[in-house]
Amino acid sequence: MQQWSGVAGKRVVITGATSGIGLAAARRLAQMGAQLTIVGRSSARTQHVAEAMSAPVDTCLADLSSQSDVRHLAHQLAERYPAIHVLINNAGAMYASRQLSADGVELTWAVNHLAPFLLSSVLLDKLKDSAPARIITTSSAAHYRAQIPFDDLSGEQGYPMMGFRRYGETKLANILFTRALARRLSGTGVTANCFHPGFVGTGFNHNNGWLMRAIMSVGHMFARSPERGADTLVWLADSPEVSGISGAYFVDRREVRPSPAARDESAAERLWRISEEQVSASATAV
Ligand SMILES: NC(=O)c1ccc[n+]([C@@H]2O[C@H](COP(=O)([O-])OP(=O)(O)OC[C@H]3O[C@@H](n4cnc5c(N)ncnc54)[C@H](OP(=O)(O)O)[C@@H]3O)[C@@H](O)[C@H]2O)c1
Repeated sequence: MQQWSGVAGKRVVITGATSGIGLAAARRLAQMGAQLTIVGRSSARTQHVAEAMSAPVDTCLADLSSQSDVRHLAHQLAERYPAIHVLINNAGAMYASRQLSADGVELTWAVNHLAPFLLSSVLLDKLKDSAPARIITTSSAAHYRAQIPFDDLSGEQGYPMMGFRRYGETKLANILFTRALARRLSGTGVTANCFHPGFVGTGFNHNNGWLMRAIMSVGHMFARSPERGADTLVWLADSPEVSGISGAYFVDRREVRPSPAARDESAAERLWRISEEQVSASATAV
């Protein structure tokens, strides 16, 4: 198998590239010579971002809360490109009140966990055929306080702390997913890693009303820039240093031990089985 020589000339697909960390990462990756595909949900925003890039980039549209959109996106990507070398699951959100997706799944769970799970799963053969290849998922230090509520994944029994608890659960799910995926990818030349970008001044949480926007704006005085928040993501995509590493959680380019709950392998396998069930209904719809 070829050695990893960086992202220049490689096909890199990134979700959530219309704002914040994903936008900063996309700009940097395009500058570095990646053949970039940016995924957005708004045609106007995605086009606007694409046109402002320093190099030509491809675009795809998908509302990642919708499983049929995610499946359609995966099939479109697999058909369009002979190889995909880096898949970056970066899009994410938090919802202050409990809402359901078109598939009847709690919305934060649908966007932050099930979308990366489904997109990566459907693209797995393509990534293996493109090896060496990488899957990178944006997690968060918000996972440290979380446990996966296996008896209430839909948040019906409670949705406290204005969505912050649910958000932490989904970011814990990102790490458990990454570790279970890495085990399945062992020996294939495809790695799976995740990272925490730090507290970054982005559009995050601006969808939850004026009070939350005001609080976030004050918080941004102490936050990192999106470029700094994107640094570990770009490094994970590009660097030959991480070629042999899979299933790891990074902060500021360093591998860090995630919480005990994130290192619970039986929870990771249980989550994998449940996630398969949660996306199975939409499989027949495409
Ligand atoms: N900011 C932080 O301090 C921080 C800390 C730790 C982890 N993170 C993680 O970093 C990632 C990026 O967040 P950010 O801080 O850069 O926030 P952001 O500026 O709000 O960017 C979020 C991105 O995700 C996209 N997105 C959200 N829901 C989507 C959906 N249903 N379908 C398709 N795309 C969707 C947004 O698209 P639109 O432009 O269409 O809204 C946007 O491009 C997230 O996974 C977040 O959990 C952020």
